[in-house]
Amino acid sequence: MSTAQPIPDILSPEFAADPYPVYRAMREHTPLLWHEPTKSYIVSRYEDVARVFKDKESQFTTENYDWQVEPVHGRTILQLSGREHAVRRALVAPAFRGAELQNTFMPVIRRNSEELIDAFRDRGAADLVTDYATRFPVNVIADMLGLDKADHDRFHGWYTTVIAFLGNLTGDPEVAAAGERTRVEFAEYMFPVIARRRENPGDDLLSTLCAAEVDGVRMSDEDIKAFCSLLLAAGGETTDKAIAGIFANLLTHPEQLASVRADRSLIDRAFAETLRYTPPVHMIMRQTAAEVELAGGTLPAGATVTCLIGSANRDGERYADPDRFDIFRDDLTTTTAFSAAADHLAFALGRHFCVGALLARAEVETGVNQLLDAMPDLRLADGFVPSEQGVFTRGPSALPVVFTPVPR
Ligand code: HEM
Repeated sequence: MSTAQPIPDILSPEFAADPYPVYRAMREHTPLLWHEPTKSYIVSRYEDVARVFKDKESQFTTENYDWQVEPVHGRTILQLSGREHAVRRALVAPAFRGAELQNTFMPVIRRNSEELIDAFRDRGAADLVTDYATRFPVNVIADMLGLDKADHDRFHGWYTTVIAFLGNLTGDPEVAAAGERTRVEFAEYMFPVIARRRENPGDDLLSTLCAAEVDGVRMSDEDIKAFCSLLLAAGGETTDKAIAGIFANLLTHPEQLASVRADRSLIDRAFAETLRYTPPVHMIMRQTAAEVELAGGTLPAGATVTCLIGSANRDGERYADPDRFDIFRDDLTTTTAFSAAADHLAFALGRHFCVGALLARAEVETGVNQLLDAMPDLRLADGFVPSEQGVFTRGPSALPVVFTPVPR
């Protein structure tokens, strides 16, 4: 894209169809861009996005979530800071890592994946998006919370609406109204469940939240409901797109798929490279705490900054040949890819680094292993070329595959 051509707007159909050439033009020509429709400063280079996320000098806040998600979720850890943030984050963090993830939740993850695969393993054909990816992570979260998976369609509808609200860059009134409806419906659904769980606690994550005390005070029903809403949305839509993404990337690079099939320890590499190359979340916002110098300009206090993860992860100053999907690249560290020391930016960095990163990794690892075992000659349906959909979050819209069923 030459400088003579205006750079397409992030709200244009051209951007939605393929944002990557636009990202490149932004990095090269307008690394700091005032965007009138979203009233935000857009940053696109790796160095700048990483600096905002790490926030070493406490220059950026997450107060943007006050208007971005609070109207649908209620108040959640995303928008909190300092001790309040740390204390609440610590309530759920153990469930998503270490022994608790391994012992309590790995069986849940394996079982949920198997159940979904059983429904199509004898069919010889499936759509990995609708039959698997959109169902698996949300079922896992529902199970972890002890909610009824039979309500899957409702959970799926709710989290899709929440994410649409979060990414409603154009301020579409219908998207806003749907968000408002979801807030009411989800509260009506959750309050009776929370009341029952307070009376009859189990060993699920919802019971943990019901029993938890923050500074000697029990979390309110409203707090707990907001947390559950965040977990369903943050853990559902993102991992759903990550699973579809890793398969889209591998199926379109069959030699790399063959390597992963032969050596399953490469799944981590394939997942890390998928997070870099096609991150599920393409943009995350922050607000400036005070006037700040960034990307060659000065931003006033209280300004909104839109950090383009999808662009930063393809910055040629950071990654060689950034538009190539290559699980063997040596400039992406796999061992730290699921921790706050990650060098891709798909989970952000710093205090709000994705608390579910290891859970997502466990789901992807289990899913890829089980799907490859069930579908030995897995390939895309004849003539199908995967394409991505979405601007704020982004992933393959469909992934029809064919395979020879394995006799059981
Ligand atoms: C590949 C899958 C995932 C991706 C790409 C992803 C992405 C992200 C990103 C970018 C953030 C940072 C938001 C910010 O800094 O403003 C975040 C935070 C968060 N994620 Fe994830 N996420 C994924 C999976 C999950 C899962 C499985 C869960 C668990 C249910 C989860 C729960 C959360 C929560 C609770 C936060 C807020 C953390 C905080 O504010 O301290 N995520 N995620």
